[in-house]
Amino acid sequence: MIEIRRRDPLTQSEGVVAGYAHTAQRWPAQPLRRRPQTASELGKVNPLEKKLPLLRGDLAGHGAKRAIGQLINLRVRVVDEGGVPVQGALVEIWHCNAAGKYIHPNDSHDAPADPNFYGAARLKTGDSGLAELRTIKPGAYPVPDTGGWWRPPHIHFSVWGRVWLSRLVTQMFFPGEPLNEFDAILNAVRDPAARSRCIAGLAPTARGPRDTLVYDYQIVVRGRSASPGLP
Ligand SMILES: [Fe+2]
Repeated sequence: MIEIRRRDPLTQSEGVVAGYAHTAQRWPAQPLRRRPQTASELGKVNPLEKKLPLLRGDLAGHGAKRAIGQLINLRVRVVDEGGVPVQGALVEIWHCNAAGKYIHPNDSHDAPADPNFYGAARLKTGDSGLAELRTIKPGAYPVPDTGGWWRPPHIHFSVWGRVWLSRLVTQMFFPGEPLNEFDAILNAVRDPAARSRCIAGLAPTARGPRDTLVYDYQIVVRGRSASPGLP
């Protein structure tokens, strides 16, 4: 029988996070039950590549089709617990535009859409576990009906393993953002060291492209230094 590892409350946020109402809907209300796994869950068939085709490595565009906002390059490295690059991992990335607006019908924030910004990419890591995305820095946005909670600029990630069941969903934050300190989602990770692993590093600007800030982010898919999963 497979043993389900217990959650580490310091690095893995608790299921229902105070002040973040949606977590109550995303956490089991009943005790867990085992059921037989399907062929795709066991990796006997892998529909991931067919159902999730690769999509854009550039969300910022160029010239008259350039999205509004500060250009950034994201260098995301996926490694395992030993620091070995995970090659061929499917990395999904999505974020809002520079005004804090998502392209999604549920986004009720009164902020302008940007016709030159799509907001989502699906990339595959190369030999060194690296996936690179040229995009713009997302804006902050208020969370409706929360009495003044604003999400700091952040980028959503999903990293797929070899089977459907193997997926990490997390968020990347930007260094030096004052809203980081008050964010219910980031602070749902209780351990400050684990929390700091959710914040990207700004690469030295002297060595980067002239018009673009470069951020490095490492996703560790398992082990003691694993990137904390966020609600
Ligand atoms: Fe978000």
